[in-house]
Amino acid sequence: MLKKTLSKNWNRMKIAVLPGDGIGKEIVAQAVKVLGALDLNLETETALVGGAAYEAHGHPLPDATLQLAKHADAILFGAVGDWKYDCLERSLRPEQAILGLRKHLGLFANLRPAICYEELVGASSLKPELIAGLDLLIIRELTGDIYFGQPRGRRTAVDGHFPGSEEAFDTMRYSRPEIERIAHVAFQAARKRSKRVTSVDKSNVLETFQFWRDVVTEVGQQYPDVMLDHMYVDNAAMQLVRAPKKFDVVVTGNMFGDILSDEAAMLTGSIGMLPSASLNASNKGLYEPSHGSAPDIAGKGIANPLATILSAAMMLRYSLNQIEAADRIEAAVKSVLSQGLRTADIHSDNTIRVGTSEMGEAVVKALKN
Ligand code: IPM
Ligand code: MG
Repeated sequence: MLKKTLSKNWNRMKIAVLPGDGIGKEIVAQAVKVLGALDLNLETETALVGGAAYEAHGHPLPDATLQLAKHADAILFGAVGDWKYDCLERSLRPEQAILGLRKHLGLFANLRPAICYEELVGASSLKPELIAGLDLLIIRELTGDIYFGQPRGRRTAVDGHFPGSEEAFDTMRYSRPEIERIAHVAFQAARKRSKRVTSVDKSNVLETFQFWRDVVTEVGQQYPDVMLDHMYVDNAAMQLVRAPKKFDVVVTGNMFGDILSDEAAMLTGSIGMLPSASLNASNKGLYEPSHGSAPDIAGKGIANPLATILSAAMMLRYSLNQIEAADRIEAAVKSVLSQGLRTADIHSDNTIRVGTSEMGEAVVKALKN
């Protein structure tokens, strides 16, 4: 059973639920429903984040939300952002909520698996033979790089813009320990898979990424059983659509990882299918779909909840040590796909179109079978 508030019962696993904006609420509700059907000792507490929090409290990451996230065992996150906030100064934009959570909780390791389900081979824009059986893992460094360079917020923006400015800049930076720890995550993940790591950088142009390459290579010496290769990011972007199955574990920085993970997600048919985990050094994690808040389809009940449901499965696997329950969710998702159920993003002829909550219900039903 799922209890609604955090109690002092320390055996109970506590999940902070942060739906956010746009389709966030709809998809997170389905994942919570699926968790509730599992008969685990879980309790959830929901808080506002992103634009929704800005509307209510004047800040995208209110202290109460941050404290809830800090004290929970894991965080289930929806999505943040809406064009209507583009005019706000940067520190108040919805995106600052997720960046703030990543930074405050030290969630430096972002795992974004891209798996092509057999049933969805036809939903990809690539030829079936290129992506059938695709199973790659992008490991994106999440708390460094140009995302968190200095100086930030150095000017006061008017309506989100800088009138009269002649330039703007952001600095790209990585420290040795930041690169070392994400490299270890990648090599360790590779040991559980096919023992190959591709490190993606831009060392032909950027000092930051020459350093990245040097440090990853050094760390790699501690993993002689894992094959390491290096690839420039432009080439990696090309290879991902040319021969995606050549990749297994891909490790890269925050900015390149942001871009390549959207690209990899789309290889599988829909970004609506891709979960993610953002972990800190003690495997505490925030779990969110790889996609955004999709304000254009918000409130219509048509968003695909599977990425969020699969994120809940990752949460059970990585942070709550409920491996069997995670396996059950993943099997239930496969089962609804093989029943032919599809939300609009993955719908095609000969499949059955369902809405967000019908898809959630179907997963719950499949769990019980
Ligand atoms: C992501 C998103 C975020 C990012 C945004 C919402 C800040 O695109 O998680 O990939 O750029 O990291
Ligand atoms: Mg992104």
